[in-house]
Amino acid sequence: MLILAIDTSCDDTSAAIVRDTTVLSNIISSQDEVHSQWGGVVPSLAKRAHKERIDEVISLALRRARMEQEDIDVVAVTYGPGLAIALEVGVEKAKELAKALGKPLVAVNHMEGHIYANFAARKGAAPPTFPVLVLLVSGGHTELVRMDNHGIYTLLGETLDDAVGEAYDKVARMLGLGYPGGALLARLAEDGDALAYTLPLPMVGRKDVMFSFSGLKTAVYRLVKEVTHDGGEPLTKTAIQNIAASFQHVAIEHLVRKTIAAAEKEQISAVLLGGGVAANAVLRKELRKNLRLHFKGNAKLHYPKTKKLCSDNAAMIGIAGYFRVQNGEVVEDIERLDRDPVLGITDR
Ligand code: KG4
Ligand code: ZN
Repeated sequence: MLILAIDTSCDDTSAAIVRDTTVLSNIISSQDEVHSQWGGVVPSLAKRAHKERIDEVISLALRRARMEQEDIDVVAVTYGPGLAIALEVGVEKAKELAKALGKPLVAVNHMEGHIYANFAARKGAAPPTFPVLVLLVSGGHTELVRMDNHGIYTLLGETLDDAVGEAYDKVARMLGLGYPGGALLARLAEDGDALAYTLPLPMVGRKDVMFSFSGLKTAVYRLVKEVTHDGGEPLTKTAIQNIAASFQHVAIEHLVRKTIAAAEKEQISAVLLGGGVAANAVLRKELRKNLRLHFKGNAKLHYPKTKKLCSDNAAMIGIAGYFRVQNGEVVEDIERLDRDPVLGITDR
């Protein structure tokens, strides 16, 4: 089954061609340069950039895959969650294409796409098996989800305030690293001392598997003020590295503790990572180490095979779409498909 997939949920315009779960092309046009000067994503600018780029991105995806529009069997598109006016651009384009080609349209949840990035075919490796505990970590979400089969999810926990990627980006901004600075912060943390500063570990006294990052973010804000004497002195490179490492140390310990607590509660020894923060090497290392400590030889950690498959991309939407089609979940009335900015992982 040849699928053309589109994702315009936030600030990347992406189109991909997948054959079942094999990625043939995955084009991403980043809008970082559009939004960085504003320190965050500006929805109206995102919409305009999506509109300007979508046709070219789709053409490129087809060309890279050496396919013609007519070869496509199914069109898949993200319909939520995300920015309403950004989602609209992709949904409208997908409707137009499905109608013009006379092919089925499948509507995909963006967060489900992040999960399915782990199901991209790879030589010599079997896809994840169920049940699996999913940790979704992106710029907009931090969720623990039990997945019992394709499309069968139970939400176990989520953040009460900021998402972890959002916290990374906000701390990066406090350190003068620009936007979006999460990945850069993680790189600088590699050369820092994670024990240089003591920051509060969130939600320690609680037995549930909920997350919170706003207290940690505020603690970093206060720390930066203190170290710079109220902004009177610039941060040295060493201070930036040490604050980055100290923040990351606590943020990841919080993620790992709650994930292990959920794994024990649910008696699931396999964890699957999805979302932009899944690219973080320390998160992977710490999770793997702790899973082994608790589950020994049964421990298993899945994460997308490339960085590109961790962050926003349309290939993951195509793969999720493939499994939706297998379940017979195609859009019945194309005209009536609407974007859903607050779509949840368990919504169907
Ligand atoms: O999944 P994604 O591309 O977009 C959303 O759906 O939100 O995630 C983007 C988030 C950003 O907040 C970015 O700073 C963060 O992922 N991120 C990282 C790393 N790479 C990207 N955070 C921590 N460590 C990284 N290596
Ligand atoms: Zn995403």
